[in-house]
Amino acid sequence: MKIISAPDYAGMSRKAANLLSAQVILFPRSVLGLATGSTPLGVYQQLIEWYGKGDIDFSQVSSVNLDEYCGLPGSHPQSYRKYMEEHFFAHVNIDPAAAHLPDGMAPDLEEECRRYDGLIAALGGIDMQLLGLGHNGHIGFNEPGEDFNKTTHVVELESKTRQANARFFDSPDEVPRQAVTMGIKAIMQAKKILLVASGESKAEILYRAFFGPVYPAVPASILQLHPDVTVVADEAALQVIREREAL
Ligand code: F6R
Repeated sequence: MKIISAPDYAGMSRKAANLLSAQVILFPRSVLGLATGSTPLGVYQQLIEWYGKGDIDFSQVSSVNLDEYCGLPGSHPQSYRKYMEEHFFAHVNIDPAAAHLPDGMAPDLEEECRRYDGLIAALGGIDMQLLGLGHNGHIGFNEPGEDFNKTTHVVELESKTRQANARFFDSPDEVPRQAVTMGIKAIMQAKKILLVASGESKAEILYRAFFGPVYPAVPASILQLHPDVTVVADEAALQVIREREAL
């Protein structure tokens, strides 16, 4: 595992965007695994800026997102499809047909999970997976206690996760109770992992994820066993690791 530090959120975003952009420049047909949430917003903004300057071309890239809420159509302002369109897809030249998310409205969600796993396999797997880190150690929507051996599946969202996401909805009750997420096994099959973390509120869990025991209580801890993980974090998020590991 490599840890790359940045002074602040903007620096973290630029460094992570640099790694993604190097991936796309070196391998224009890359399959990128993408994430939503607050942390990657600066990464997407930076990539859009470099695309605008002609530095990156996404025309041959495919993408697969980690997760999507169940019961929200792609047009819903809080769906992850909408987030990706607003914050990234609409601003770069990725082929809309190559920008994939699970369909949370699929009539048969189990079938949708199988379709999504089949799609990732048909694309040849994920070359670089961008991840955020939940306050409880979740990655994607794989909550504590989740089986490490799952591919894409339907999850019941923990109340802590629903509360954390409630800020994006008009009321907490509107936050969906289920989501489709790539499982830990599917994430671990990505060739490279790029995890971004920012802010003091992530410092303890970042430490536990990468320096604590590998166990399902901290889903991200499994990443310690992945052969190619890069963590890009700002100083606030690295605080506990610095204190306890003399980084
Ligand atoms: C989003 C996702 C989640 C987030 C995590 C951190 O697609 O899979 O695991 O990465 O909840 O979210 P933020 O970045 O908002 O702290």
